[in-house]
Amino acid sequence: MEGKVSAEDRKSKKGWIWWLLVLVFGASVVAAGVLTILKQFHHNKRDSVSDRPADIVKKYADALEIALNFFDVQKSGMLVNNKIAWRGDSGLHDGREEGLDLTKGLYDAGDLIKFGYPMAFTATMLSWAILEYGDQMNAVKQLGHAQDSLKWITDFLINAHPSTNVLYVQVLLSRVGFFGGLIWVEKWNSLQHPVASAFLAVLFSDYMITTRTETLYCSGKLYKPADLREFAISQADYVLGNNPMKMSYLVGYGSDYPQFVHHRGSSIPIDANTGCADGFIWLDSVTPNPNVAIGALVGGPFLNETYIDSRNNSMQGEPTTYNSALVVALLSGLTASSSVVQSFLH
Ligand SMILES: *[C@@H]1O[C@H](CO)[C@@H](O)[C@H](O)[C@H]1NC(C)=O
Ligand SMILES: *[C@@H]1O[C@H](CO)[C@@H](O)[C@H](O)[C@H]1NC(C)=O
Repeated sequence: MEGKVSAEDRKSKKGWIWWLLVLVFGASVVAAGVLTILKQFHHNKRDSVSDRPADIVKKYADALEIALNFFDVQKSGMLVNNKIAWRGDSGLHDGREEGLDLTKGLYDAGDLIKFGYPMAFTATMLSWAILEYGDQMNAVKQLGHAQDSLKWITDFLINAHPSTNVLYVQVLLSRVGFFGGLIWVEKWNSLQHPVASAFLAVLFSDYMITTRTETLYCSGKLYKPADLREFAISQADYVLGNNPMKMSYLVGYGSDYPQFVHHRGSSIPIDANTGCADGFIWLDSVTPNPNVAIGALVGGPFLNETYIDSRNNSMQGEPTTYNSALVVALLSGLTASSSVVQSFLH
């Protein structure tokens, strides 16, 4: 299932520019990831945000801890300090035929497949979140966890890029469309855009405060940093249960969250003796998932704000690591209360 993209192969593909872009992108993701991991948190960042008093908003700190758990659920390879009781080692031969160690990395969604692009996106978002909000993550003791998840991905990406001209990528085309600007069909991953927008809003709000920008003019309206933050909070709260379904779309958060998440490892009992093809018995089972995929952020509600909690509903019920990375970024931006916003505005 891996495709080896070498210099020779590329000539035969009319989309060689695409591959070049992928290479450059892949290399920068790896570089960013490694830098993020290596970076000691010298406080040369935006002063006011990193100096923000550690006024922790417990619900977002709790949700952040839960959301980060999903990366452990998705790990491939020989697990280290595994805390997920129902997860074991997997993918131990990945890359062996090519003489590479591609055992690590994260499965991107509910199946057992590792996709290069989603992983690169996940790594990018995690790096970004750590660079911007590493101090906040640290204040709620989640920085190490986030860095560990990021390193698990970059270890894979570095090995998948053994020489300048070669990158191993997943070539199943069904998901590649995901990278055409990050806009998947809206029905799928409906939470992706709100969560991504909310993260950008909180980030922008913090930048405005730091740069003493009082208002932002946009489509005939003026927005203050507090307005942007309020928007971000409304989106985060929606995800965490303030919605018509009164359901948290983050599995493990609150008391009411999806019980039939579309996720293979979570659906099949650990003691089941099951082959590759007969997982469908468990797909159709009407009992809730035996293994709770704590931290999974499901695809989300329909436009009419309903959610059908059924295991065969992959459109709404399939979690992905790239959505998790977005929600991790958003929550890390919200773990510290907006005391700076207050003091700046008053
Ligand atoms: C909500 O929308 C979905 C998808 O369009 C549809 O299947 C479902 O019946 C709708 N539910 C209600 C209550 O309108
Ligand atoms: C999906 O599962 C639900 C029960 O959870 C069932 O009612 C429905 O018929 C199933 N749909 C399909 C297409 O199998």
